[in-house]
Amino acid sequence: MMKKIIFLVFITSLFYLGCNTTKTATTLVDQFNYEVQKKIVCENGAVVSAHPLASKVGVAILKMGGNAVDAAIATQLALAVVYPNAGNLGGGGFMVARLKDGKLVAIDYREKAPGNAHRDMYLNPAGEPQLELSQYGHLSAGVPGTVSGLFESRKYATLSFDKLIQPAIDLAEKGFAISERDAKAYNALKDDFLKYSTQTPAFVKDNLWKGGDTLIQKDLAETLKRIKRKGSKGFYEGETARLIVEEMKRGKGIITLEDLKNYKAASREPHVFEYKGYKIVGMPMPSSGGLLVHQMMKMIEDKPIASYGFHSPEAVQLMVEAERRAYADRAQFMGDADFYKVPVSTLTSDKYLKERMADFVPGKASNSEQIKPGEIPAIESEETTHLSVIDKSGNAVAVTTTLNNSYGSKTVVGGAGFLLNDEMDDFSVKPGVPNMYGAIGAEANAIMPGKRMLSSMTPTIVLKDGSPYLIIGTPGGTTIPTSVFQTIVNIIEFNMSTEDAVWKPKFHHQWLPDEVYLEKNFPPATKKSLEGMGYKIVERNGIGRTEVIKILSNKKFEAVADNRGDDTAEGW
Ligand code: DON
Repeated sequence: MMKKIIFLVFITSLFYLGCNTTKTATTLVDQFNYEVQKKIVCENGAVVSAHPLASKVGVAILKMGGNAVDAAIATQLALAVVYPNAGNLGGGGFMVARLKDGKLVAIDYREKAPGNAHRDMYLNPAGEPQLELSQYGHLSAGVPGTVSGLFESRKYATLSFDKLIQPAIDLAEKGFAISERDAKAYNALKDDFLKYSTQTPAFVKDNLWKGGDTLIQKDLAETLKRIKRKGSKGFYEGETARLIVEEMKRGKGIITLEDLKNYKAASREPHVFEYKGYKIVGMPMPSSGGLLVHQMMKMIEDKPIASYGFHSPEAVQLMVEAERRAYADRAQFMGDADFYKVPVSTLTSDKYLKERMADFVPGKASNSEQIKPGEIPAIESEETTHLSVIDKSGNAVAVTTTLNNSYGSKTVVGGAGFLLNDEMDDFSVKPGVPNMYGAIGAEANAIMPGKRMLSSMTPTIVLKDGSPYLIIGTPGGTTIPTSVFQTIVNIIEFNMSTEDAVWKPKFHHQWLPDEVYLEKNFPPATKKSLEGMGYKIVERNGIGRTEVIKILSNKKFEAVADNRGDDTAEGW
């Protein structure tokens, strides 16, 4: 009976929406009653994201006549409300798109170091790193980029911004039912939220949260309304900027009104390369993602990996060694290319990559003591979230955003209701000192005012015969590029179903520490073989939450959400 009522309400809303375009997208979304859906095959459009409500908002926007960019903007804004661990206003992200006319787009809204940041700001007088400062609280926050990024991507959108932001306002103002998982996180992080915020945020209440409780975020709703009224200035200037700077003053942070006013997202040339006839479109610096996937794919291209078989010791070893070598280069050479000359063409030349793999010995582990970053001639010129979207006319969008780790700095801007990132930890705070993902860096990724910290986020679009074939991305810190690499190889080389390509266990090597991470359910026989080759194996809980849309040969869209979380595929 209940199901019938829900169905009738749904059909009525569809009809109403068709007749009355002033209705908002939230009409199609019941924020108190929603379910996770892992897969859908459809023909008019699809959205996969980390939260069912956000995916539903995206699809509602498509149904209102919006294109994939509209849907991606509305989905991100909804995630900022319903998925505050990584959806955000106070963080940053990247968008990669292939538009219906063939144009390739890359938008960089990565956070920047504040103007008063300096190279040694996280070192004590003895030169020792103070990682609590780079990973928690006010000083760990970079200047947020998301709102500027949303407005930069609006160039390619078609609906009014009012329509795109209204669902997020409704979700913040009227509230939504939190999941069991959310309840656990809010309870576990209560002390952190209180310690690192100067005013009690909406995620904190006296008694324990439980699944199904309603989270209302009034301050966040007001911030969203200011953005609705004033556009980007509703965030970077006026009341919201004032609230951010007051929060900074109370918590000894350094972001100023000037930093906020000066922040601008950047449109960049996507990082594009060919692999066996496919064209792979990724994010350029300050993301290491596009370049790492490029290096790793090219290092395996001339090997008959398909014949080795999925998860065979031969295939895993080959990919682990490609990963090791690419990540050694990441540590040495990669950083914000606006500040540091990243030798992209050398790092991706056939000659260089062939040489990198020259000392690869099948059946025997290499050693990160010996595998150093490559030689470059001097003249050479754990939370993030991903969403994939496609629309009927063929616009394909991949977006990955983050606050860095889950709930970022744990600092909520008093009176404005959103979390600030702790992205400053993605800089190399000192050469050789690992960040929270164990990544080390050097000069290329040293802190400088106005510089963007190196990222691993890898929103990626694979084109086949010139048309979108796969739209991929994932969270996971430094494991992001290796998860994207493996998902592409699983589909292109091992011919796996999209579900298997996403859901089967993943592995990861990042040069240092010299360990291979395997997901807990990894096949024991392969694990044993790898140990026999000399690898140090470390078991790990879920690697990534990969979202994929595959465009099938009959032109239908197959959207698959990772089964490692509440990720949901929606479409119509
Ligand atoms: O930009 C980066 O590479 C990191 N800040 C991403 C963090 C992340 O993916 C955490 N998620 N699990």
